[in-house]
Amino acid sequence: MKNLFLVFTISAISLTILSFTIKNNSKVLSGNTDVTVYEVPADVQEIIDNSCYGCHNTDSESTKSKMKLNFDDMSNLKQGKLVGKLHRIYNAVNDGDMPLKKFIDKYPDKKLSDSDTEKLKSWANDLMNKNGGL
Ligand code: HEC
Repeated sequence: MKNLFLVFTISAISLTILSFTIKNNSKVLSGNTDVTVYEVPADVQEIIDNSCYGCHNTDSESTKSKMKLNFDDMSNLKQGKLVGKLHRIYNAVNDGDMPLKKFIDKYPDKKLSDSDTEKLKSWANDLMNKNGGL
């Protein structure tokens, strides 16, 4: 009888802890879809500055490139928009479409190395997930 009581008490305590954990997790998840997260680690910023920022900033001479992507504007975007831009960045880099070929022909040192490409891709992917994913 004493043992049965003990089993009951332990189950009750476990259930309380479990439901508390589930509640807390769902809070974290729903919080994630509301708040835009835009973080750029120093090594990624360096790659962007070297190979992308010159064309994709507010003062860029090319309207087309800054309309499609403006790094100065990223932190002001709503989550859904930001995820869309990050997805385009991922694809542009993954497909080797960016930086533009004619630019690389002129400035070969701006070409992304394999490790630069991987860093940009995993940065974009992580940030997409932190903002609720696709
Ligand atoms: C020499 C200028 C230049 C550089 C450097 C450059 N881009 Fe672009 N980018 C453009 C232009 C121009 C367009 C618009 C192309 C078009 O619409 O045909 C564009 C478009 C894009 C787009 C939108 C593509 C789409 O599907 O709508 C993305 C994303 C992008 N660039 C990412 C990058 C990234 C990331 C880098 C650095 C690795 C980079 N770009 C470097 C000029 C540049």
